[in-house]
This record gives sequence, structure tokens and C-alpha cells, in this order.
Amino acid sequence: MLWIKNGRLVDPKSQTDQFYDICIERERIAGIFPPGSADQKQGEGDEVIEAAGLIVAPGLIDVHVHFREPGFTYKEDVATGAASAAAGGYTTVICMANTKPIVDNEETLTYLRERAKDMPVRVLNTAAITKGFQGKELTDMIGLKALGAVGFTDDGVPIADTSVVMEAMKMAKALNVPLSFHEEDPALIGSFGVNQGPVSVAVGVAGAPAVAEDVLVARDCALALNTGAEIDIQHISSGTSVAIVRAMKALGKNIHAEATPQHFSLTEEAVLQKGTLARVNPPLRTEADRLAIIEGLKDDTIDYIATDHAPHSKEEKEKEMKSAPSGMIGLETALALGITNLVKPGHLTLSHMLEKLTVNPAQLYHLDAGYVAVGGLADLVIFDENESWTVGENFKSRASNSPFIGDTLTGKVKYTICDGKVVYRDGE
Ligand code: DOR
Ligand code: ZN
Repeated sequence: MLWIKNGRLVDPKSQTDQFYDICIERERIAGIFPPGSADQKQGEGDEVIEAAGLIVAPGLIDVHVHFREPGFTYKEDVATGAASAAAGGYTTVICMANTKPIVDNEETLTYLRERAKDMPVRVLNTAAITKGFQGKELTDMIGLKALGAVGFTDDGVPIADTSVVMEAMKMAKALNVPLSFHEEDPALIGSFGVNQGPVSVAVGVAGAPAVAEDVLVARDCALALNTGAEIDIQHISSGTSVAIVRAMKALGKNIHAEATPQHFSLTEEAVLQKGTLARVNPPLRTEADRLAIIEGLKDDTIDYIATDHAPHSKEEKEKEMKSAPSGMIGLETALALGITNLVKPGHLTLSHMLEKLTVNPAQLYHLDAGYVAVGGLADLVIFDENESWTVGENFKSRASNSPFIGDTLTGKVKYTICDGKVVYRDGE
């Protein structure tokens, strides 16, 4: 047995915020007792984690990561990605399908499902909506679901043809799987990764305007209302898009949205300071957009905090702005960015923020995870919500493309427990 003693259990699903001793037997929570119980009940050979002063919460769930295998393992692979997830307090991650080959076929998905088996955390896969991300022909969604795809997305590549999206939504509705959408209409984009405006001018690129996101968000929400498909608007970055989702959500419960830590923490100014490390699709935008995203998180227009963990190599990120790839890693800084920029300033309570990292994502993907209860899976994160630390370059991820390197954040993961096993300890 493993005991977690004297921790403050914050479980958004049951609205618990209380001190408890928690007992884990194999992969499940065997008991939740008043503090002091562990000392009486623990047996010879039981392992004990002293959690006085620490928060115990459900293991975090990320609906949006890129682990780059197969095809780009010099950036990340499933094992380094899973190690990065564990270090960030995550016990479940959902991988996007933009690998090489793309996850649009049975062989690639089968390979990845096998690969996930030996990982310290639960690594789940989405498959592509369209073959080759071409936006034309749907993949065999029935077959891919049967092989374990938990959802479908062409993330990274927006789908231009509205009729294809409509057809995908009808199929997703029939299969009871969510679709997630990268919303940037290429027709309105000068160049990806930097907000169109003074900053794109300053760095000499054409830029990506917020309206390119807004039009596709509006389109896909309208299609979701019409078809009833469960959809997730990915990494929302524009204040207008937040307002569109808010209005559309009033019309249908099947519309959901994500925000990333980078989009609620940074603005386009970061591009001037951090260069290509701040290049991301959709781009970091204005302070007004950032504040609108925080409002959207507060009033639950935005359901999930998702990292869009997007590893790239040093060589790639050292290229000039117009040719460096977009994206940043995020798994190891997400919880701290949420505590630092949402909880400490008083925008969200700790439980409300954790809801967007646990129970809400579990619901979208129909996962029996994201909560702490007797009989439930022993997937937990234990963290110090008050410890400050400075982000270094020593990530568990193979990559280190983070614009937060050098920043001092509050909130430090101490242990991650997945399936009843300690898969990460701070300092190891
Ligand atoms: O910046 C991004 N990078 N946005 C995406 O949607 C894809 C990601 C990647 O795969 O690098
Ligand atoms: Zn994306």
C-alpha cells in the first residue's frame, strides 16, 4: 500500500477541499480517511508520502500534445513526451495526429497504441479527420475508433472545405467521439505564428490576424449546432473568438473550447523579447485578447486548459522568424503558469482551474479519470502551490523550446502518481 499523509485534497468533481490521508492499493484509491488515520492503519512495508503543506489533486489531463513519433523523434518521442508529462503532473495526455506518417491509417495508430503500453502515464491518440490532412476525404473513422482513437483532429492544419467539416461532424456524432479543430483560415493568413499588427511589422513577417481564427470558430460552432457533434475549439487566442464561443454555447451544450497557458500568460510582445520561441499557431495576441481569454476561463466559456505541447529542436528554432516552426513545449510549466497567472491574481480558484485540467477533459473524451474517489484510479498530482522556482533548460522533454525559460513561477509539482505508481518525484 501507498499512503499519502496530511495532504489537502482538492477534487473539483466532488467539490472537495479538505485534509485527508489517502490510501492506494495497486492501481486504485482504497481509502480516504481523516488526517492521523495513516499512522494507525499503515502496515509493515507500506510506502508513505508526507504531503503536509501540499495539494493532492487528480492527475492532470491534457487534451492537446504533440509527441512527434513516428517521424520527428529528434524533437520528442512517446517516451520523452510521457516523461515530460509526468514531470508536469499529468497522468493522461491526448496526442495529436500530425506525425509522419500522419495518424490517418491503421498501421500508424496500431504502432502508437502498442508504444503507449509501456509508458509511465496514459498516452492516448487521436486520428486525423481527413486523409493526409488534405481536407478532402475523411479517414476511416469507424475503423480508427475501433483501434483506439479517442477523437479526431487535423490539428496544425485548418480544414478549409466546410462540407468536409459537416460530413466529419455527422460521422463523429454517430460514433460519439469528439472532434477538435485548429481554427485559422489560411485564406486570411499572410504568414503563420505571429499576430498581424505592429509586432509582425517589426519582425518583418506578414502575420496571422485574429479574424482568420474568428471566421472558422463561427463556422464550426454553427456546424456543431446543426449536427450535434461534440466539438473542441483548440487553443483559442482571439477575444472575438471567445465571444463567439460564449454566444454559441448558449445555443448548444456540445461546443467546448481550450486555452493554452501561453495564450493566458503572454502577449505578442513576447515575440519581440523571445524571438522564435514565442512563434506559435495561433499566435500570441494583444493584452485585450489575453484578458478576454481569462474572462472566458472564469465564466466557463473555455472548458479546458491544454498545453499544445509542441517540441521543436534548437536548430529549428534558431532559424529566422519566417522559417522557424511554430510551437512551444508546455507540459512542465502548465500547472505553474495556471497558479501564477490565474490563481494567484484571483481570477480563478485553485479548484476551478483544476477542473479545466482534470474532470472537464475527462468528460469530453469519456475517460474514467480526472477525479479522486474510493475505488477510482490512483492517478494523482501532489504539488506545492506556494513554492517559487525559476524555469531552467533542463526539461524532461527532449526539446527546450519554451519562452518561459528564466521566468520565476509559483507552484511546483512534487510527485505524480499514475496507476498507483510514483512516476515522478521532484528532484529526481
Ligand atoms: O504552433 C503550433 N505547433 N500549432 C499547432 O497547431 C501545431 C504545432 C506543432 O505541431 O508544432
Ligand atoms: Zn493547433
